[in-house]
Amino acid sequence: MVDFKKIVKEGYGNIAKCSVCCCDCKKMRDAELAKSIGYSDDDLKTPGNLGLGCGNPTALGKIKAGDVVLDLGSGAGFDCFLVSKKVGSSGKVIGVDFSEEMLSKARENASKYGYENVEFRQGDIESLPLENNSVDVVISNCVINLAPDKSKVFEEAFRVLKTGGKLYVSDIVLLEELSEEKKNDENLMVGCVAGALLKEKYLDLMGKAGFEISILSEDKEISKTQYQGINWIQYIFKDWFVVFVMKAKYMFMVFGLIQTIALGFIIWFLLGDSVGIDTRLVLSLVFSTFTLIVEWMTYIKN
Ligand SMILES: C[S@@+](CC[C@H](N)C(=O)[O-])C[C@H]1O[C@@H](n2cnc3c(N)ncnc32)[C@H](O)[C@@H]1O
Repeated sequence: MVDFKKIVKEGYGNIAKCSVCCCDCKKMRDAELAKSIGYSDDDLKTPGNLGLGCGNPTALGKIKAGDVVLDLGSGAGFDCFLVSKKVGSSGKVIGVDFSEEMLSKARENASKYGYENVEFRQGDIESLPLENNSVDVVISNCVINLAPDKSKVFEEAFRVLKTGGKLYVSDIVLLEELSEEKKNDENLMVGCVAGALLKEKYLDLMGKAGFEISILSEDKEISKTQYQGINWIQYIFKDWFVVFVMKAKYMFMVFGLIQTIALGFIIWFLLGDSVGIDTRLVLSLVFSTFTLIVEWMTYIKN
């Protein structure tokens, strides 16, 4: 049986590691993505955005100075750092994540940028490392869909919230069932799709945990650009890439051969009448064989 949690944990561990060598084009894509889901240009000056959210829960509700706020699945800390400014020095933000790599990225960001009221704890959102009635607001951005037992997550959020506390969630829900193939696709598991529940089921579990529910906004287009969309693009890209590489290899072989023959001719003509035909022949053969070997080695390496 597939270990869903292990796949998700490893997946996000790799994303966190990858973000260390994040290129400018990835940063730009993450920024564009964040803007498309409700973050402002000003928000984007805050560290920790890895383009993994599906909304902006920090903007959904009122978070005030002095609040204790918990972020379920805090990633590299983006939402925690945004909330940190709202709660101020009299408040506190706690980010919980089960990925060690994400936590160290988040902690690194916190110490580098001096977020003293933010703490990151390792833990599973199905079993929170927090006291009962200790939090004013719980936020979560695109994480609960990744938890196999969503009832537990909602019950845990309810347990740690003070009476009258609020849970602001941005998440992915399904509008129709996925095929078994999609449910077992590891890319879709990490990509916030395979673990998602039908909207009615999701809201039902949330209600059963004790929450009164208001839907603040819905975005059906996001799946085209971000989730199933991204996976679709990835698949296309992968196929395209494979085709491209295979074609490139054959093309490379053909061009390599032509280039080798051409080099032989060039050497032949450059040497001209200064040497005899035998020497020209030997030298052009040596050079073209040398080129062929180098080309072949590059081809094998690729
Ligand atoms: C899609 S990312 C979102 C990160 C962050 N909320 C953001 O918007 O940038 C999901 C995060 O949730 C974490 N996560 C997934 N399942 C979890 C679980 N059961 N317990 C704790 N963290 C979990 C992952 O490690 C990852 O950092």
